[in-house]
Amino acid sequence: MPPRSTTPKTAFVCQQCGNDYPKWIGKCPSCGGWNTLVEERVVAPVKGRSGAARSPRQPIALDQVPPDAEVRIPTLVLLGGDPGIGKSSLLMQASASLSARGTVLYVSGEESAAQVKLRARRFGIDGGNILLLGETDLASVIEAIRRTKPLFCVIDSIQTMSSEDIASAAGGVSQLRECTARLLEVAKGDDVPIFLVGHVTKEGNVAGPRVLEHIVDAVLYLEGERFHAFRVLRATKNRFGSTDEVGVFEMGESGLREVMNPSEVFLEERSRGVAGSVVVPTIEGTRPLLVEVQALVTPTSFGLPRRTVNGMDPQRIALLLAVLTKRAGLSSGSHDVYVNLVGGLRIREPATDLGVAVAVASALRDHPADPRTVFLGELGLGGELRRVQRLASRSPASRTATARSSRSSAPRRSAMPSPDRAYQTSKRAYPSSHDRPRAAGHPGRRPHRHRSGPGLAAA
Ligand SMILES: Nc1ncnc2c1ncn2[C@@H]1O[C@H](COP(=O)(O)OP(=O)(O)OP(=O)(O)O)[C@@H](O)[C@H]1O
Ligand SMILES: [Mg+2]
Repeated sequence: MPPRSTTPKTAFVCQQCGNDYPKWIGKCPSCGGWNTLVEERVVAPVKGRSGAARSPRQPIALDQVPPDAEVRIPTLVLLGGDPGIGKSSLLMQASASLSARGTVLYVSGEESAAQVKLRARRFGIDGGNILLLGETDLASVIEAIRRTKPLFCVIDSIQTMSSEDIASAAGGVSQLRECTARLLEVAKGDDVPIFLVGHVTKEGNVAGPRVLEHIVDAVLYLEGERFHAFRVLRATKNRFGSTDEVGVFEMGESGLREVMNPSEVFLEERSRGVAGSVVVPTIEGTRPLLVEVQALVTPTSFGLPRRTVNGMDPQRIALLLAVLTKRAGLSSGSHDVYVNLVGGLRIREPATDLGVAVAVASALRDHPADPRTVFLGELGLGGELRRVQRLASRSPASRTATARSSRSSAPRRSAMPSPDRAYQTSKRAYPSSHDRPRAAGHPGRRPHRHRSGPGLAAA
């Protein structure tokens, strides 16, 4: 039998999509990324992976699986977020809460134990039950997990972990995949819930390519504008529950604090009677949220009008400006348009379309929209207003959250019967002569009409 070659086998792994090739090529045929291939050593799966081998499990009847309430659910959860957004802070605070019930292992590959302690002290956490481990070697981390059997384990961050079985640098696709797969094995095999912190790449993917999202049980993102105090925690994948729920937090000196009534906070500093300011009842997860949309429209000083959008999709705003121009005769072609969602939130739901359109129209005409009216509805390209989902959840928020918004404009089919007069649903998009011009931010004058019937033209 010929002697086995000792030269390590290598492959070129795309750092963007994780596919591997035997030869280097400039462009990855799978994802189209240029210059994304890096040579990495390929290792055959190690028999009897490092750490103590565990005895094989026996199949059990489904009805004999212990109920979740009493046992730790062995999950592997990935928490992603921009640099400095507060991932470590959130997990340190979660560790502190859980440490009241058992040992928590906090593995930090990024910060020294002293740095982690400084943060914990700032948060007022004494942390007698929190074990700190400053380690980046995966085998040592797994060994520590198996030895300490924690109630909860945090790996901060997965990009810093490396396995000596893989030759490439920590943070590379092969390392990420291998480390996550090994930690999954530990989570499921040893019944330890593990939270992984993952950095978001400039493309917005957590922990590099999306390879990790398939391996883990749940993916959470902590979002927010860097210079605002508010952070929203949302789930994009959850094998054990809904992805609808969100958490709203405020970052402060003593860490993240839950915001009980976000609407109140978001509307706190609202200046009423200013053109371009509109309140929109949006839904974040299952939670209704009143937010202020601000628009500012100024004449263009250069040839090309600017569109600057904060907190919303710029493409959607461009579309709404086009609809306003064509269907409502409100052209902003010679104006710069700035749209801002107050509070550093990011909202993607199309139900905010009408609010944005009214804010822009109000700014364009330099006339304030009714400060006691909230606007919601999706705008179609024909200028028609489409129904919005879950209107019933939004209406109590509009009525009671701040007691500031007492009326609303919504498309007819979204309308739910309302117990009081404060919440008015429309038979047409804008039912009364009072609402109609105000929706376009232009009271007292006859609105420009392109087409009759419900929809934007009616405004
Ligand atoms: N003394 C302080 N007062 C208020 N906020 C602070 C203070 N110190 C830090 N912060 C906030 O905490 C954030 C850093 O939090 P944290 O280290 O948890 O973020 P991270 O997401 O883990 O960052 P990284 O990506 O670097 O790991 C800072 O961006 C800042 O907003
Ligand atoms: Mg951190």
